[in-house]
Amino acid sequence: MSKIGKDIDHAAELLKSGQLIGIPTETVYGLAAHAFSEPALINVFKAKNRPYFDPLIVHVSSMERLHDIAEITDERLSALAQHFWPGPLTLLLPKKKTIPDLITSGLPRVGVRIPNHPMVLELLNKIDFPVAAPSANPFGYISPTEAAHVVSQLHDNVPYVLDGGPCNVGLESSIVGIENHALTLYRAGGISIEAIRQVAGSLSVKLNQSDNPLTPGQLKSHYAPKTRLIAGPLSELIPKFKSYRTAVLYTGQSAPDAFFVFNLSPHQQTDEMARNFFKGLRAADASGAEVILIDYAPPSGLGIAINDRIQRATATFDGGTRARS
Ligand code: TXA
Ligand code: MG
Repeated sequence: MSKIGKDIDHAAELLKSGQLIGIPTETVYGLAAHAFSEPALINVFKAKNRPYFDPLIVHVSSMERLHDIAEITDERLSALAQHFWPGPLTLLLPKKKTIPDLITSGLPRVGVRIPNHPMVLELLNKIDFPVAAPSANPFGYISPTEAAHVVSQLHDNVPYVLDGGPCNVGLESSIVGIENHALTLYRAGGISIEAIRQVAGSLSVKLNQSDNPLTPGQLKSHYAPKTRLIAGPLSELIPKFKSYRTAVLYTGQSAPDAFFVFNLSPHQQTDEMARNFFKGLRAADASGAEVILIDYAPPSGLGIAINDRIQRATATFDGGTRARS
């Protein structure tokens, strides 16, 4: 049986004994495992039905702990770490030998971040090893932003979920590394491109669209609900799909007329949309609608990361495949 609670000591004991737990972070909930325990890591891949070629992000509580597992040699990455940690930023760094190849899928870099959530920081301070944690959803499905989402998706695969409330950011971390000397963004996430550029200068954006990518979170189809998702201007889509039971994810003050509606952002702000995005998609998916309709976000701030998730979620249906749930 999977349990939800706030007992950080219990969570630490489970991790120490090689068990998996759900952890709150500011981005999405993670499925956490002892980063130096290979059996625990294997269970993460199994619980998520995740391919072994998709590497895991490692979570630490401080720069001192980071130095046990990776090196920051590039000044731009070091500036980003100083500025945004703890926070929704993952850096791809040259890994030290302490990190098992299972975590990095054999790649020379490890993804690391210091998450910004008081409960998980307290947890990390109670243990003397780092924690590997992918998002706590079955591979390819919608990421969890509340403790109950983890239990409803992973069931008995996760004996305990630490309840830290709804995630504040609501989208996964931005992933940044160096490629051919260029500061490169691999996943648009909780820190905007503008904010990264302000701290570290020029940034090349390489959000991989291929089906065989270097960074598998950038698989073309990902983050998808089971119900067909269609994106575009709602004023066109709603009349077009009026003969269907539609779920509409909207922003602003006036709710459209539909079988199911969910307001992503009454204030029409991208941060608010980001916070509610996965929750809204999940609710729409569970509503019994035949089609989910959503419009793209304004393309600035976290709007870029939201639109990236929308594109990957709709790509699942465009190609006619529903392979990765
Ligand atoms: O916000 C987040 O990053 C959340 C929370 C739990 O921290 N975690 C998360 O993990 O989103 P996950 O596994 O769902 O996505 C991590 C992405 C994967 O797409 C993976 O391909 C990429 O990060 N990644 C991790 N390590 C990598 C590495 N060494 N090289 C290239 N890509 C890496
Ligand atoms: Mg994920």
